[in-house]
Amino acid sequence: MRDARFRGFAFGEAAMTWKVTVLCENTVPVPALIGEHGFAAFIETPDHGKILFDTGQGMGLVANSLRLKTDLREVNRLVLSHGHFDHTGGMLAFLGVHGPCEVTAHPDVLSERFRWMPVGPTERPVSIGMPWKEAYLTSRGAQFRWQPEFAEIAAGVFVSGEVPRRSAFETGDPKFVVKANGDWVPDPFLDDYSLILKTDQGLVVILGCAHAGIINILAHAVEKTGDERIYAVLGGTHLGFSPPEQLDHTIQALHRFKLRKLAVSHCTGQQPIARLAAEFGPGFEFAPVGYTLQV
Ligand SMILES: [Fe+2]
Ligand SMILES: [Fe+2]
Repeated sequence: MRDARFRGFAFGEAAMTWKVTVLCENTVPVPALIGEHGFAAFIETPDHGKILFDTGQGMGLVANSLRLKTDLREVNRLVLSHGHFDHTGGMLAFLGVHGPCEVTAHPDVLSERFRWMPVGPTERPVSIGMPWKEAYLTSRGAQFRWQPEFAEIAAGVFVSGEVPRRSAFETGDPKFVVKANGDWVPDPFLDDYSLILKTDQGLVVILGCAHAGIINILAHAVEKTGDERIYAVLGGTHLGFSPPEQLDHTIQALHRFKLRKLAVSHCTGQQPIARLAAEFGPGFEFAPVGYTLQV
């Protein structure tokens, strides 16, 4: 019998129908896995196609994939959630193992972006975008497929495309900025993508950092797929960097979606995770490296 402490974790088990394995995340539940601030997930589809969603920073992807028996060489397509280095920094490591590969993303994924951070006695914008330019990535085998809108990229697999900002309380993180006409302005995050799996049990929505707002993303997923049943939400929510009142509104709105599983981690933050775990009880599962979701 599997050790109950490791409920939700599987090491190399065969996919039943849909299977999502977290390959990169900030924390690890067992030895021999590598944690890093970042996110990546390996998706196995019912027709045996495999998708890599994000790549982490690049330190843990290959090592964790070997430990978790998820073969990066079998990936049909890489999808990028947005251009931050903690989601794209493993691209070279991935391409080195895989060879040339289609990369689906919003074209803004390459844009320069920054975050106000402490540097010595003051704060200044620090570059946190993709570490490489397009031409270099192309020379290393990245075959970009620019997709700014909602689209089905494989049977039952959708990218959200640009997400309309509708909820009044998801105001974004003002510390994220881009330069426009010499001024620092809020990063619009048009490239913030989520991946949506249409399963028999309902939608599985996989977030990168949810910079577009988790509620905006879920509403968009429901509207675009026409399926109101959300089976699971997995990934980073950025609630750890959001005002406390946003978390209150988010929890109220999440209850309306009647999720079966909320499996978040990465930029969700420890205090919001504790609150979400209390709110959603057995429906909440923390999702560090090695977490698997099977539907
Ligand atoms: Fe992130
Ligand atoms: Fe991010």
